[in-house]
Amino acid sequence: MTDSLYRETILDHFRNPRNRGTLEPADYSYEDVNPLCGDEIRIDLQTDGEQVTAVRFSGRGCAISQAAASILTEMVEGQPLEAVKAISREDLLEELGVPISPARMKCAMLGLKVLKAGLYGVPPADDAL
Ligand code: FES
Repeated sequence: MTDSLYRETILDHFRNPRNRGTLEPADYSYEDVNPLCGDEIRIDLQTDGEQVTAVRFSGRGCAISQAAASILTEMVEGQPLEAVKAISREDLLEELGVPISPARMKCAMLGLKVLKAGLYGVPPADDAL
């Protein structure tokens, strides 16, 4: 895809977020804020013990944070938990497809940080994503 198509993908996910909402009850649930701006994301997962059977995200924030969370939910839906735990910063950046400046990196990674915190019970260090 070209850069402009990737940008369109991000705008599309921002305007039409996939898997938006909450799950009650959830097997894993966590919410956190980007300390730089106060924007927040919550991610809920339901599993059958081995695979993600449902995922939802909610919150508010900039286009990058919300689009990245939406894209992330598509990456984890139906996947084995071990594969979800292994999703890296690079994996998500590859899916985003556009260069993310250092200033926006916390925006892009907020959803992944919340997802990992839900799975592991504690937020990961920024350099551990
Ligand atoms: Fe707040 Fe991007 S400006 S998450």
